[in-house]
Amino acid sequence: MIEIRPHRISDIPYRVIWLNNPNVNQYIGQCLDQKTTFAKQKVWFNKYLKDKNKKFFTMSYGKIPIGFMGLSRIDKTNRNADVFIAIGDDKYRGKGFGEIAMQYLIKFGFKKLGLHKISLGVFEKNKPAINLYKKLGFVIEGTLKDDVFFAGEYHNQILMAIFNKKVAIKTKK
Ligand SMILES: CC(C)(COP(=O)(O)OP(=O)(O)OC[C@H]1O[C@@H](n2cnc3c(N)ncnc32)[C@H](O)[C@@H]1OP(=O)(O)O)[C@@H](O)C(=O)NCCC(=O)NCCS
Repeated sequence: MIEIRPHRISDIPYRVIWLNNPNVNQYIGQCLDQKTTFAKQKVWFNKYLKDKNKKFFTMSYGKIPIGFMGLSRIDKTNRNADVFIAIGDDKYRGKGFGEIAMQYLIKFGFKKLGLHKISLGVFEKNKPAINLYKKLGFVIEGTLKDDVFFAGEYHNQILMAIFNKKVAIKTKK
């Protein structure tokens, strides 16, 4: 079964592998010829540690880290945030782990942080992710056409969001 724990500095080498995995970076718009490095990820991690508006987690299968996910641009005033997930190790996909992990993160955002809305952008061609988000209750808010130029072509980006209806009712009282 998967375990979820806060992202930590020892995850940097895994971040490098996962972000350089073509099955991950084709969906996050990172050019394949601009691979990330340990040094770049160390810079990212040091910034992350100081950023109060980001909260990332590592998923592991037993002790083996298999991917990461997180909330960023956490906005306490508007009670919203953006979400990201990647199962970085291909062999752990399609086993229900992404769904379990996202459920954890959504609950964390709504219950622990008191968020009202969690948003994301996903390439239109990323059917596995879109299906996952729809299954979890995300709705489509719109399409940004030809939004990202990557690997020689333009990609439409679908904007999706999930709403915490309980918080919405509470704030109206
Ligand atoms: C998207 C991602 C997180 C899904 O995680 P996962 O662990 O493989 O997905 P799960 O096994 O939990 O599947 C949950 C649901 O997602 C959808 N899904 C997952 N893989 C799918 C596939 N290959 N084709 C179609 N739908 C798929 C299905 O709705 C599935 O529910 P079902 O099994 O009842 O049909 C994973 O594919 C991934 O990390 N992709 C690369 C990075 C990425 O694209 N991140 C998102 C950036 S926006």
